[in-house]
Amino acid sequence: MSASAPAPLAVAVHGAGGRMGGVLCRLLAAATDLRLVAAWGRSGDARLGCDVGTLHGLGPLGVPLERLGVRGIRPAVVVDFSLPAAGPALAEFCREERLPLVSGTTGDEDPERTFGRAADVVPVLWAPNFSPALAALAEVLPTLAGLLPEVALGVLDVHHARKRDAPSGTALRLAQLAGSGTRPVATASLRLGEVVGEHVLYFEGADERLEIRHRVHDRSVFARGALLAARRLVARGPGWYRIADVLRDPPP
Ligand SMILES: NC(=O)c1ccc[n+]([C@@H]2O[C@H](COP(=O)([O-])OP(=O)(O)OC[C@H]3O[C@@H](n4cnc5c(N)ncnc54)[C@H](OP(=O)(O)O)[C@@H]3O)[C@@H](O)[C@H]2O)c1
Repeated sequence: MSASAPAPLAVAVHGAGGRMGGVLCRLLAAATDLRLVAAWGRSGDARLGCDVGTLHGLGPLGVPLERLGVRGIRPAVVVDFSLPAAGPALAEFCREERLPLVSGTTGDEDPERTFGRAADVVPVLWAPNFSPALAALAEVLPTLAGLLPEVALGVLDVHHARKRDAPSGTALRLAQLAGSGTRPVATASLRLGEVVGEHVLYFEGADERLEIRHRVHDRSVFARGALLAARRLVARGPGWYRIADVLRDPPP
């Protein structure tokens, strides 16, 4: 890297021992403008102390899986894909340490309340889905549903059998946007095999049905979206952000 190139952005991954943690570590290892500096896992995880790259079959990355903040390393931004129960401690940590936070963790009924105190002092972006295509759909969905006031609305989500929350965070968000808080939206969930993520929206009208289907082929779409959000969030002031707020930014 030339002397004038900016230093890579230091990223900590929270939930680094999980499926999404592994994908984030792989993308971070390959990135030139980002650097993995800390990998945080659950305090009772038997793998604490092991190199996080080795854990995920990537080869050693020189970063151990460890408890939140244990080495006192200061990242420029934290990227979280863990479990909802971990949210309050992570939010408090980011607030105290003044660390911008990108979170994709789902299953918390009110993430804005969980992370809200942190958002008073740092930029916080939570999204139930970091796919750019779904972020775009979310933007137009209230308008589309508003144009079809008579149809019955439904959302189906299909995910791998180990997913812990149902309906998915994305299904709940799509239902909220389509129904605008005034119309009922039926939801259903299937937990099947290794499906990464699929959502289908139904607009059931008289003698016709509109369906919108979104299918994710690889988890890296979420990880790439979260890392893009991380790059852009660090330039923002304290507050609560949505994925659409940063996707529209010009490239950094
Ligand atoms: N927003 C999006 O685009 C998007 C995309 C995919 C997934 N997700 C969500 O992201 C989350 C993670 O998904 P995943 O598939 O990676 O799940 P996962 O494989 O279960 O990974 C979650 C990881 O977090 C760890 N963890 C639990 N408590 C923790 C704590 N207090 N501190 C740090 N780490 C902790 C878990 O450890 P243990 O296994 O030891 O408990 C596990 O290693 C889920 O909520 C999922 O729904 C969101």
